[in-house]
Amino acid sequence: MARIEPGLERETVSVNLPQRKYSVVVGSGIVKDIVDYISYSAPSRTVVLLTQPPIARAHPSFLKSLEELLAGAGFPFHLVTFPSGERYKNINTVKKIYEKLLELGVERRDLLVAWGGGVVGDVGGFIAASYLRGIDYLQVPTTLMAMVDSSIGGKVGINLGEGKNLAGFFYQPKGVFCDVSLLKTLPRRELVSGMAEVAKYALVFQSSFYSFLLRNKQKLASRDETSLIRVISRCARLKARMVKEDELDLKDRRILLNYGHTLGHALERVTSYRELLHGEAVALGMLVAAKISEGMGLADEGLYGVHRELLESLGITSLPSFLPSSEEVMEVVRYDKKRAGGKLRMVLLRKVASPAIVEDPPERLIRRALEEVLKEEKGR
Ligand SMILES: NC(=O)c1ccc[n+]([C@@H]2O[C@H](COP(=O)([O-])OP(=O)(O)OC[C@H]3O[C@@H](n4cnc5c(N)ncnc54)[C@H](O)[C@@H]3O)[C@@H](O)[C@H]2O)c1
Repeated sequence: MARIEPGLERETVSVNLPQRKYSVVVGSGIVKDIVDYISYSAPSRTVVLLTQPPIARAHPSFLKSLEELLAGAGFPFHLVTFPSGERYKNINTVKKIYEKLLELGVERRDLLVAWGGGVVGDVGGFIAASYLRGIDYLQVPTTLMAMVDSSIGGKVGINLGEGKNLAGFFYQPKGVFCDVSLLKTLPRRELVSGMAEVAKYALVFQSSFYSFLLRNKQKLASRDETSLIRVISRCARLKARMVKEDELDLKDRRILLNYGHTLGHALERVTSYRELLHGEAVALGMLVAAKISEGMGLADEGLYGVHRELLESLGITSLPSFLPSSEEVMEVVRYDKKRAGGKLRMVLLRKVASPAIVEDPPERLIRRALEEVLKEEKGR
């Protein structure tokens, strides 16, 4: 970790893959790092910044600095936008962006920069993987969720009418630049939702991180930049490790990052991706998983309380009032199980930082855990 000016830290995490290596830079005010990387990587390539209008509006100085520094270094620059919202993560948006890139004369050696949350990152990565059979891209995430999770690891994709992320690639970025100053404008609900993914890393991988989060809850709630840099780089390191060990999600390592996601996805689907943000659904999914772990005798009683304490400390206290019935959610769980060849593989915990992959946990336990969590939530 190199200190660059008093009070502000910058951390660099390496993602070391068999075929390639890239860095995740985490800091505050790091536009120049992005331009330095671009200048170093290849001379005189066109740079296309892909984003959404609210992000460009919220950060005019970031945009202006990027544009000016690139112009100073001799790089042609274009801004391309598409509307915000999960519903635009689709093939129509991709088609429009392809057409725009062709109109701008973007070539194979040029560079795309995906500047936004997980939606921009996933769409940008999909475009980069496929436009002219693949161009380089950088991830510059602007949500906490994207900084700790989606921007790292090269999973990119779009939604189809039949479901989420059904078309996509494993296509690694050339670099990831997390600028925590961008998080100042993130709506509180989005920030807190990202905290659920942060909690996931602590619960699955690191009890010392769990204690760190409890100790720093106030600083995190006030978006203290140094604390955010520490948290994001810690998550990035854990994610980089899982991606290195299992880039293509085939070896039972990357699956650990799905803790809370089995029930989380089902809850998102049942509520048509409208009521719950991704992290909120994952938070509920982790609470259910903790109860299943206890119910199976895998974990001691108390694991659920440990989850509650951490999630509440990070601000995940009151979830949206509309929650589905457990029967509706169970239907989706059964459907997912059928689609996965009749086997439901769930990540559960023996205790904090001791995950286990369990095949087909008893349905009655899942249902009971789900009912208890939903009842508790509705009563809050
Ligand atoms: N590829 C992966 O590995 C992976 C992992 C997890 C999730 N995802 C995907 O990520 C997506 C969700 O991403 P998300 O949670 O970042 O949501 P998002 O990208 O939809 O962003 C949330 C909202 O915040 C706005 N926004 C973004 N940054 C902002 C900022 N700094 N200030 C103000 N507003 C800002 C966006 O315009 C949007 O309206 C889902 O599509 C999910 O499938 C992908």
